[in-house]
Amino acid sequence: MKIAVIQGPNLNMLGVREQNIYGPMSMEQIHEQMKATAAQNGVELEFFQSNLEGEIVDKVQECLGEIDGIIINPAAYSHTSIAIADALAAVALPTVEVHISNIYKREEFRKTSITAASSTGVITGFGPFGYHLALLSLTQIISEFKAMQEQQNAAAAQQEETPAN
Ligand code: DQA
Repeated sequence: MKIAVIQGPNLNMLGVREQNIYGPMSMEQIHEQMKATAAQNGVELEFFQSNLEGEIVDKVQECLGEIDGIIINPAAYSHTSIAIADALAAVALPTVEVHISNIYKREEFRKTSITAASSTGVITGFGPFGYHLALLSLTQIISEFKAMQEQQNAAAAQQEETPAN
């Protein structure tokens, strides 16, 4: 199972930026912790960070056919980017949106996530632990999805074998 972790603008500054909001952990430290959980669950992770909207759109598009699910923190683009929301809707992969802070507890402009509507679910306000929760929940969602697909394929194969009356 392959999962892409896509980090939006300024998340490369975690550990430095507004520690009172985002805490002391760097993005690299968060990724190291995720790698440990992923290894235990047989999940392969691919990490990507960009400060540019178009690069994030490109990355989401590249996931199609290559990746089973996406964990994304679009950061400030969550509140503004129809392009990222459209890209997520276009690839239609199981997706968990993560916010380190609780966006509902902050400024008005952060309370709406445009990209969230293209995600399976959203985790917000649990600090860096939110990425861990996202990994666990997405792994479960993808496993269930794959099991359902296998069941459907098996049922279709059986129908083909049974002669029509
Ligand atoms: C954030 C919340 C956004 O409003 C903000 O622009 C970020 C980080 C979070 O993880 O809490 O950069 O996505």
